Amino acid sequence: MTKRVFPHAPALALALAAGFGLVACGGQSHEAPADAGAEAHKAVAHVSATDGDAARGEKLSKEKLGGRQACVECHGDKGNAPSADMAAPMLAGQYQDYLFHTMQAYRDGKRDNALMTSHAKGLAESGHFDDQTIADLAAYFASQSGGLGDLHGVK
Ligand code: HEC
Repeated sequence: MTKRVFPHAPALALALAAGFGLVACGGQSHEAPADAGAEAHKAVAHVSATDGDAARGEKLSKEKLGGRQACVECHGDKGNAPSADMAAPMLAGQYQDYLFHTMQAYRDGKRDNALMTSHAKGLAESGHFDDQTIADLAAYFASQSGGLGDLHGVK
């Protein structure tokens, strides 16, 4: 399956972070310290869909974060859904940006599902579902090969 790659995303994130930093400092002082750019970047700390660490994501996917069920208990080993009876969809090989944004949507109450929304909100409340964690999980599941495909060529 072809993955979409965003080679310029980190550079863009940096540029944006620097931009926000400039706006935030506007009008306060004209004598910005030499490392103002680095400071601004730290303060904004924007996590984008492609900022994930798949190795950390793999570890997290198997842990009972906040005492809750691990991702793989519902979504299957490596995110390959264990059975069609189980409502949890296959995550292995899904687009990374889709995984990232949809996990945020559950957490932020923009996508509603009895199981997954309450799971995501519970994780967030116990401090286990910040943007970096979501990016790491997205990087991991997207990097796994699985049975997801498109219907091109299907008759
Ligand atoms: C208690 C079972 C359960 C656990 C644990 C669970 N999920 Fe889910 N998850 C579901 C179900 C059910 C859905 C389908 C929800 C829907 O239709 O909106 C889902 C949907 C998703 C989706 C959307 C998939 C798609 O194709 O749109 C993502 C991404 C996801 N889960 C990630 C995770 C991650 C990451 C974890 C671990 C932090 C996790 N889930 C833990 C049950 C679970």
